[in-house]
Amino acid sequence: MDRNSPIGVFDSGIGGLTVLREITRLLPNENTIYLGDTARVPYGSKSKETVERYSFEVANFLIKHDIKLLVAACNTASAYAVPKLKRELKIPVLGVIEPGAKAAVSVTSHNKIGVIGTEGTIRSSAYCTAIKSVNPEVSTFTKACPLFVPLVEEGWANDEVTALVAERYLCDLKDSGIDTLVLGCTHYPLLKETIASVMGSAVTLIDSAASTAAEVKRILSESNMFNAKTGQAKHRFFVTDSPERFLTVGRRFFGDNLSEAELAQLTEN
Ligand code: DGL
Repeated sequence: MDRNSPIGVFDSGIGGLTVLREITRLLPNENTIYLGDTARVPYGSKSKETVERYSFEVANFLIKHDIKLLVAACNTASAYAVPKLKRELKIPVLGVIEPGAKAAVSVTSHNKIGVIGTEGTIRSSAYCTAIKSVNPEVSTFTKACPLFVPLVEEGWANDEVTALVAERYLCDLKDSGIDTLVLGCTHYPLLKETIASVMGSAVTLIDSAASTAAEVKRILSESNMFNAKTGQAKHRFFVTDSPERFLTVGRRFFGDNLSEAELAQLTEN
């Protein structure tokens, strides 16, 4: 592994492409390798033990491809598996929780922050713990929104059905008086408009993807690990099932630059 090695990014499936998109926007010279565990998605409804085991298998696959930094783009994997990945892997590991929590604390004006995510992410309390470790004065309010992921994958991000679901999920958060809302799931940046229209303009939406990309930049800068070779950066995509579906749905997240995905064989630890 050296400074010209790729950045490894993984997710339970397609949603982590929102994080990869921000990384490639901010660091256009960096090579990347993405793995979407499409055979075992969703992680959001699974137990901590299972998500941890899957995350290690995926991380080991990426490490075999000589990555210099591992980014867990999946919020559920970040909540459940990143602490152990950080302890046990020999390369730097970054999840999306801490960058999102820091960004939220930096913008809240009344110290009232809401967090939405998968059942696993909300059950783990990882965002609340991270927010309180930055500022213990902040009150947190949470809500799991499991239907948002399939609605986005169906292409219904701006559909009236999704607006109704959003109103139902978010009404208590709206009444709680939060001024900041963390979009704690890979798919939710695609629902920004729908969520914003329910929450109103007084609530700032925090997209962990952008703050995670900024953190990747900071880590590479501090360790002097920016890619030294200039020219066309390479982006490789792996999935554990059906490259075709990944390409079709993935373009909604990443744009038309997503043209090829390879099938990955994961091995158990
Ligand atoms: N990538 C997941 C997350 O951000 C959402 C999809 C899933 O449940 O696996 O939590």
